[in-house]
Amino acid sequence: METRDILMVPVYFSSSSSGMVRGFAERLRRPVFDLAVREVRQSVPEGPWVLLTPSYVTGNPLNDTIPEPVKRFLSRPRTRRLMVGVMGSGNRNFGAHYQAACRHIARASRRPVLLEFELQGTLEDVEQARRVLTVVDRRLAGITRPGQS
Ligand SMILES: Cc1cc2nc3c(=O)[nH]c(=O)nc-3n(C[C@H](O)[C@H](O)[C@H](O)COP(=O)(O)O)c2cc1C
Repeated sequence: METRDILMVPVYFSSSSSGMVRGFAERLRRPVFDLAVREVRQSVPEGPWVLLTPSYVTGNPLNDTIPEPVKRFLSRPRTRRLMVGVMGSGNRNFGAHYQAACRHIARASRRPVLLEFELQGTLEDVEQARRVLTVVDRRLAGITRPGQS
């Protein structure tokens, strides 16, 4: 298979009005979908996809940090099955809750945490995300096996 035939795995993201994750997603140079948009939230991906989520500690008894749009999107079993990895934006100031949403979803779904970064991410974080997603693209295309890049 030629390199140009490799599909780019889409990234579905959630972001609040502060827009840090949105800004990061828009710098990935690949298809990205905003879960704030109802049609996106209600859709089912056509193939493998990656989740990009912030964490928001709410103070409720469960200390639930998963944004509501992410919960809704993940409520469909087929959508959950097609998810191939999770990336998280967080803030180390939240201590034990750092990246709680990303880590919880990865653990519960047995999918890998592909990348964690703080706030809107640095240039290096964006470049790292592009590299990691390219590895995912290549694995999905059957070009590399796990452990290779
Ligand atoms: C009220 C509030 C709660 C937050 N809770 C957490 C948290 O539990 N864990 C964490 O790692 N980051 C936490 N953060 C940091 C955000 O996840 C981080 O800033 C993220 O980049 C926000 O993305 P967004 O601007 O796209 O919504 C919190 C931020 C706010 C304002």
